[in-house]
Amino acid sequence: MDEGSTETPLGVGRGGGREAGHVPVLLNQAIDFLAVRRGGTYIDVTVGLGGHSFAIASRLGGPGHLIGFDKDPNALAIARERLNLGSEGPKITLLQGSFAELANAQPAASIDGLLADIGVSSLQLDDAARGFSFQAEGPLDMRMDPHSERTAEQVVNHLSERELADVIYEFGEERRSRRIARAIVRSRPIRSTAHLADVISAAARPMNQAERKIHPATRTFQALRIFVNRELDDLRALLQAAPRIMKPGGRVVIISFHSLEDRIVKDAFREGVKQGHYTMLTKKPVTATDEESDRNPRARSAKLRAVEKV
Ligand SMILES: C[S@@+](CC[C@H](N)C(=O)[O-])C[C@H]1O[C@@H](n2cnc3c(N)ncnc32)[C@H](O)[C@@H]1O
Repeated sequence: MDEGSTETPLGVGRGGGREAGHVPVLLNQAIDFLAVRRGGTYIDVTVGLGGHSFAIASRLGGPGHLIGFDKDPNALAIARERLNLGSEGPKITLLQGSFAELANAQPAASIDGLLADIGVSSLQLDDAARGFSFQAEGPLDMRMDPHSERTAEQVVNHLSERELADVIYEFGEERRSRRIARAIVRSRPIRSTAHLADVISAAARPMNQAERKIHPATRTFQALRIFVNRELDDLRALLQAAPRIMKPGGRVVIISFHSLEDRIVKDAFREGVKQGHYTMLTKKPVTATDEESDRNPRARSAKLRAVEKV
């Protein structure tokens, strides 16, 4: 779950490492699996603050092309500064929008490597005004794309109790979904993250030691975020577009952060192998070393899977 991030916000400095302020997860492993080839065309479909993109761009050199997508225009503005490598660097094209549509718009067999590091960035999580975190008072927003229609406030205040319980159960894997949905409906209107977190905490007291380890609102906030941003639908669309846009020998590398996402990636890659599109590069998901997890708690739940286009 992303909420445990302790990455510091905004690091606009150069370099793909800790000194940049934002710590890209599984950076070396992602770059190794991408096998970045000088002069190639690579897409980072989740540019974020540009940590992975910087490492890719540095290896691509002048003749290469890095295409970056993000739903969040604020992230792209920061990444644009960071990826300015001058004449040494590759051509950079940054596009704002969902990778579901943008990937699909790429020409067939045009991409040497595609990286997705899905979820929220520290920029989004640490800005209380974006409404992603139950640890800070903010409006119930949770949109990665600030121009998209659906906010968490609309979901929380307008879905029926039944619909809300289904969202919390399906996208948060929260067993106490019905109790939480009932409490939310009774407390409406709910306008802030702190109010929502209080309502959930009162309704879903931890029943055992395992539940005590995570904040009672963690799963509900995850569910709302996934629903508001249509995250799983976007991921499915990306995985569907990938075989068509990859060049033979091109690599697809996906880093995900919870079991719902990882299952979708695993199933799509297995199906792709069965259909003859891919060779599997990771029989089991690659996870962070203890050292990386100690340095960056967000890395603890990260799983990387990779395939190569046949
Ligand atoms: C975990 S961050 C990526 C961090 C980045 N790899 C780095 O090193 O700085 C995920 C980013 O993906 C973006 N994102 C998530 N889902 C998206 C989608 N469906 N389409 C486009 N961008 C998306 C988010 O806005 C966020 O900025």
